[in-house]
Amino acid sequence: MYVRLRTLIPATIAAGAAVASYATVIERNWFALRRHEIPVLPPGSEPLRVLHISDSHLTPGRKRLMSWIRSLDDLDPHLVVSTGDSIAHPQAVTCFLDSLGPLLDRPGVFVLGSNDLHAPTMRNPLRYLLGPSSGIPLKKRAHLPWEKLCSGMTAAGWLDLNNRRGRLTAGGLDIALAGVHDSHIRKARYEEVAGHADPTADLRIGVMHTPEPSTLDQFAADGYDLLLAGHTHGGQVCLPFYGTLITNCGIERARARGLHRHPVGGQAWLHVSAGLGTAPTAPVRFACRPEASLLTLVPRDSG
Ligand SMILES: [Fe+2]
Repeated sequence: MYVRLRTLIPATIAAGAAVASYATVIERNWFALRRHEIPVLPPGSEPLRVLHISDSHLTPGRKRLMSWIRSLDDLDPHLVVSTGDSIAHPQAVTCFLDSLGPLLDRPGVFVLGSNDLHAPTMRNPLRYLLGPSSGIPLKKRAHLPWEKLCSGMTAAGWLDLNNRRGRLTAGGLDIALAGVHDSHIRKARYEEVAGHADPTADLRIGVMHTPEPSTLDQFAADGYDLLLAGHTHGGQVCLPFYGTLITNCGIERARARGLHRHPVGGQAWLHVSAGLGTAPTAPVRFACRPEASLLTLVPRDSG
């Protein structure tokens, strides 16, 4: 027994160290481009490429992430949608805007996440896996320059959809949009955008940071065709053959990332990005690579 333990304990420690190194160094920088085709356009429309980015939680040292975000312009998207939690450091606004680079010359829209407003605080990383991250009083977290972040994107022509509606033309299509601020910190004001989405538009998109079921229900009931959200990080640390452990909000584990239908109140599609970064206090990714998504919107089946 003693010999077995003498072998088992070092082996377990070595395996744990290997997994931790993989999760913090390799997978966290192993960016994936996800591609989905979504039938939401009027019959006869040309495909529309939408680049969905989220949750980069950028800090100035993340050069690989910055360079990968910048390379996404090569996908030639017609529209860019950013669903928040873009920064995690007071000096990260310029880094994020530089990372977007040529993407800012394209039509774009954004909402904020809670982490754009408040700097991270040190806490036990395991707490990220134990449930929704609502335990830290916001007044104890330093202010991040979200106003500068917003003005940098709006100066480039992107639409601020924080509790606002918007309208733009992309790829020759007339697109009606609405968005809400982050419900995770009770800043979502759906009543500001409530009402049926314009049925005369070619496409209706609802944008939010946190895919809280009640918010999804409202967008879907108002006739939005496509709902885009982030926040979950896809769980960030997943178990092989089991998947997401936590979603950090009310959505179920099965829809913590990727493309799904939203079953309530309409025929909306939901895409949840697993995000580009990590919670700053838990800089690991396991079985859940950081990602951006290229959504190719195509005509609905006219039959
Ligand atoms: Fe996030």
